[in-house]
Amino acid sequence: MVAQRSAAALLLCLALPAVVLCARPHLSLDGASRDGQISGARPNAEVNLRPIIGIVSQPGSPAPDGHSYIAASYVKWLESAGARVVPIFYDMTPAQIQERFTIINGLLLPGGGAILAPGHKFYDTVRQLVDLAVEANDNGDYFPVHGTCLGMEALSVVLSGNYTILSPFDAEDAAAPLLYTEEAAGSHLLKSLPPDVVTDLQNKAIAMENHMMGLSMTAFKENPQLSKFMKVISLSLDKAGAAYISTLEGRKYPFTAVQWHPEKNPFEWTPALHIPHGTDAIRMSQEIANYFVAEARRNLHKAQSANDEDNMLIYNWKPEFTGKRSYEGEEKDFEQAYFFENAGHGRR
Ligand SMILES: *[C@@H]1O[C@H](CO)[C@@H](O)[C@H](O)[C@H]1NC(C)=O
Repeated sequence: MVAQRSAAALLLCLALPAVVLCARPHLSLDGASRDGQISGARPNAEVNLRPIIGIVSQPGSPAPDGHSYIAASYVKWLESAGARVVPIFYDMTPAQIQERFTIINGLLLPGGGAILAPGHKFYDTVRQLVDLAVEANDNGDYFPVHGTCLGMEALSVVLSGNYTILSPFDAEDAAAPLLYTEEAAGSHLLKSLPPDVVTDLQNKAIAMENHMMGLSMTAFKENPQLSKFMKVISLSLDKAGAAYISTLEGRKYPFTAVQWHPEKNPFEWTPALHIPHGTDAIRMSQEIANYFVAEARRNLHKAQSANDEDNMLIYNWKPEFTGKRSYEGEEKDFEQAYFFENAGHGRR
């Protein structure tokens, strides 16, 4: 373990020079936040105490044919921090996506297995939403985006414009500590978290990693669009000791992306994975949710009416107990999931 740590430290030193290029960013957003990094606070900032966060659904297991799904863990995670959720169906038309964007106060791109290339509807939908979020922030409309696992990978592909920027890593069921980079010192996310949570993430393997693909520091550095947009806050090591980027944060935009799964600690229970469920891990999960929902309270998008809002909320659907095993040892990804019928979206 000690040897591994120092190997990682060495790797960080080698990796760092190219990453430390961050002069204080010039912001096109108005105002300055408490840490002066990410702006958008308005002089008489109104706080939105009824934040709504959009989560993009995706096709594939455990959704039945002709349906997409959202794992309920993401929904519960956001709800427990004081937000409500509106699903954004991956197969919506661009006009429908545009309309949804005007009522959500933040966007969560979840984990999963969707294909990240143009022409695949999930990717095209994510791409449109990210473009809308960038444009909103450029116009002084503070709009946070958070990507988890595949969500981080999708952000990396969209922002880099390189569909082969990801590479394989051996990090399935591999909870890991975060190895902070020098950029971590100026991180809006880390400054917003309680200090003990920041050190727990560094010293204990409570960040649940469960991925086969990832973003290497080399690929990050080689892509100027991505490295101009994002800064690397942490790396983690896979089972073979290879370093991948585990946390990214926008230099100028309120975007965060984590390769790990903060929503799994309190809400996913499959015995097939070693998800950290200790008090420290649960507290960490809650504080990451608090962070993201606090960001969403800074956005003032709103539905036209309370009825319109009701009709879009995820409360119109019922989650199913997808984690129930039909025989001893059966592996299930999610305890509960919401299913949405494609186009129509009628199944409730
Ligand atoms: C995309 O990223 C990969 C990994 O860094 C690199 O090998 C490849 O050359 C990049 N492709 C383009 C078109 O830049």
